[in-house]
Amino acid sequence: MSETSTLVTAEHFKYVAERTAREDPFLADLKQAARDAGIPPIWIAPEQASFMQILLRLARAREVIEVGTLAGYSAIAMARALPEGGRVRTIEIDTARAEFARKWAARSDVAGRVEVIQGAGREVLQKLPADSADAAFLDADKKSYPFYLEDCLRIVRRGGLIMVDNAFAFGQLFDPQPSDPDVPAVRSFNDLMSRVPELQSIIVPLGDGLWVGVKK
Ligand SMILES: C[S@@+](CC[C@H](N)C(=O)[O-])C[C@H]1O[C@@H](n2cnc3c(N)ncnc32)[C@H](O)[C@@H]1O
Repeated sequence: MSETSTLVTAEHFKYVAERTAREDPFLADLKQAARDAGIPPIWIAPEQASFMQILLRLARAREVIEVGTLAGYSAIAMARALPEGGRVRTIEIDTARAEFARKWAARSDVAGRVEVIQGAGREVLQKLPADSADAAFLDADKKSYPFYLEDCLRIVRRGGLIMVDNAFAFGQLFDPQPSDPDVPAVRSFNDLMSRVPELQSIIVPLGDGLWVGVKK
């Protein structure tokens, strides 16, 4: 037993990725088509998708809400961890991205389990009833995360999951002069998330840092 942790390096990240994630041809094609359509490659990493699938299975999730669809990569990955009749509702503000994701979800092995909602995250979340989701994944505009969190604490049932991406602020968490304008918002959200009394939360060092909170 040891109270000290092994320092996780880029080498460890690579090792983990190579041993835990299998990218299938369909998602590889989706990524290529997204690049061809001019959609930026800012989807989650395969090993992060795999970890989220494990969490969703453990939580026996049926209803998942996502803010930030992009090309539909994470929505399709999450939908694959749901049982028959399960559903990922994913919100995307950009019309062309929402349409792209809708088309690819319809072609996927989880067609019917992904519903793309074109709209602004805050407006859509505010309309969702309390305790209507088993899990939420926040992966959109960082400045709105505190509002999304407040809504998700209402929408996600007890025992459900709130997962939030980019806790490591695009690799610039400790940068004294970050180039990305969203870094301060991520830092202040991390402080907020660590103090939410309704959640037991932890940052998991996968991808760009994944917050995982379980609603008590
Ligand atoms: C990092 S990408 C999402 C990646 C996706 N979750 C994945 O891993 O495949 C963030 C997305 O959030 C969308 N977005 C930004 N602001 C938004 C808002 N206010 N409401 C909904 N979506 C928003 C962006 O257009 C972008 O497509």
